[in-house]
Amino acid sequence: MNTAPLSGIKVVDFTEVQSGPSCTQMLAWLGADVIKIERPGVGDATRKELQFNPDLPSYYFLQLNSDKKSLSLDAKTPDGKEILTKLIKECDIFVENLHPGAMDKLGFSWEAVHKLNPKCIYGTIKGFPVSSKYKDLKAYEPIAQVTAAAASTTGWFEGEYNIPTQSGAALGDSNTGMHLLIGLLAALQQRNNTGEGCYVYQSMHNACLNLCRIKTRDQLTLDKIGYLTQFPQYPNGKFGDCVPRAGNIEGGGVLGWTYKCKPAGDMDSAIDANNYVYVILQRGAKDFELFCQATGFTDWLTNPDFNTADARDRHKQEIYKRVGEWTADKTKFEVTEILGKYGVPVGPVLSTKEIMSDESLYDGNTLVRINQGGEIGEFVTVGCPFTMSNYQPTYGPCPTLGGNTDEILKDLGYTDEQMAEFAKNGTTKPLPDGKM
Ligand SMILES: CC(C)(COP(=O)(O)OP(=O)(O)OC[C@H]1O[C@@H](n2cnc3c(N)ncnc32)[C@H](O)[C@@H]1OP(=O)(O)O)[C@@H](O)C(=O)NCCC(=O)NCCS
Repeated sequence: MNTAPLSGIKVVDFTEVQSGPSCTQMLAWLGADVIKIERPGVGDATRKELQFNPDLPSYYFLQLNSDKKSLSLDAKTPDGKEILTKLIKECDIFVENLHPGAMDKLGFSWEAVHKLNPKCIYGTIKGFPVSSKYKDLKAYEPIAQVTAAAASTTGWFEGEYNIPTQSGAALGDSNTGMHLLIGLLAALQQRNNTGEGCYVYQSMHNACLNLCRIKTRDQLTLDKIGYLTQFPQYPNGKFGDCVPRAGNIEGGGVLGWTYKCKPAGDMDSAIDANNYVYVILQRGAKDFELFCQATGFTDWLTNPDFNTADARDRHKQEIYKRVGEWTADKTKFEVTEILGKYGVPVGPVLSTKEIMSDESLYDGNTLVRINQGGEIGEFVTVGCPFTMSNYQPTYGPCPTLGGNTDEILKDLGYTDEQMAEFAKNGTTKPLPDGKM
C-alpha cells in the first residue's frame, strides 16, 4: 500500500533560493509530484551560489531540491505562458516566492490562477505581511531576522559585541518554508470540504516573529514591571524600555547558561571554539536537590541565597561562577554524562562537524545521504525532520537544469515539432544572443 501522504498531489513550484524550495522539497518528500520551473539557462540562483566546483551545482541547491523535476521555462514568452497555464490547470498546488509584484506582472497572480483552476491552492512567500509598510521590499534571511525582533534580542547584552546578531538558524528562510507547508497542508484538508483551493500567504516576517513569541511575552512583562528576572541584568543591572539581548539565558523561567569545559581531545577542541556545555537549573525543589547531589553543591540546599528558585534568580552570577568552575576541569561530554544521570537538563555544544560525523544520526530522517550520481556522488543533508509510523520518505537526487523538460512537455501533449520550436524561440532554451 502506498502510504505517501501526498501521493497523487501535483505541485507547480515557481520558487527559488531557500524559503520556497525548502517547502516544496518537503512536499516532494511527502510524496507529491513537484515540477520546478526554472528560467532557461539560468535556473534557481542557488545553483551557482557558493559552488564547491564551478561546473557543478552547489550544495546550497542540492540540499533544497531533492526529488523534484525541473522544467526549463521562460514564463514571459507567449508559449511559456501557455505551457504554464496547462500545468496550472492540472495541478493541486502552485507555489511562488518571486519579488513582490512579479507574479502579477507575469499574469499568474492568485486571482488569475484561481480563475484557471479553482481547485488549485496558491502558496506565496513574501518578505512582509500585506498590512506592513515594508510589503513591497525584497527580502532575504537577515531582513526577516532584523525586522521581526530576532536580531534585536539575540547576542551579547553588554560590551563591544552588544550589537544585533543573527541566529545561525534559517528563521527567515527554511522556517518560512515550513510555515507555508503548514498552511498548504491545512488548505489541502480544507479543499476536501469546500472543493475549492485557497490562497495561502506566508511572509518571512511572520514566520520569524512566530518564533519570537516569547520575546513579545518578555516585552509585555517589561512594560508591566520594568524588569525581567531571567536576564543577567536582574537584579543589579538596568533595563531599558525594550527586551534586551539575552546572551545565553534559557529564555523561560528556568536558569540556564553556557559553561566552559576542558577540551574534549578531538575535532573542535583544537580551536577551542565549542568546548562548552549548556546546563539548566529547574525551578522545582526536587530537581534542584538532584542538581546539588550531582555537582556536590549540597551546601546550597540549606543556603537561603540558593535554595529557592527566586533566590537563585537573584544570585545567578554566583551560580554561573561556581558551576563554571565545576565544569572547567571536565569535558562537555563528561558534564553531560554526570548531570544527565541525575535528570538535570544538559547538553554539549556541538559543532556542525561533530553532528555530521555522528553515525547514529543517519537514521533515515535526521541526517540523510543522497546519491546525486555523477561527479557529485553522495552528499549529506537534513532529512524530513519528523517520522511517521507508516511512511518513510526516500531521498532522491536533484534535477539538472531543465532535466525533465521533454518528459513534462510530452505529458502535456506537445509534439516533437512544437518542443523544437519552444527550444528555438527561447521558451525552454536560452536564445543564442542571451536575450531573455
Ligand atoms: C529573493 C528575491 C529577493 C530575489 O529577487 P530578484 O532578484 O528580483 O529575483 P526574482 O526571481 O524575484 O525575479 C527576477 C525576475 O525574474 C523573473 N523570473 C523568474 N523566474 C522566471 C521564469 N521562469 N520565467 C520568466 N521570468 C522569470 C521574474 O518575473 C522577475 O522579473 P521582473 O524583475 O521583470 O519582475 C525576491 O524574489 C523576494 O523578495 N522574494 C520573496 C521573499 C523570499 O522568498 N526571499 C528569499 C528567501 S530565501
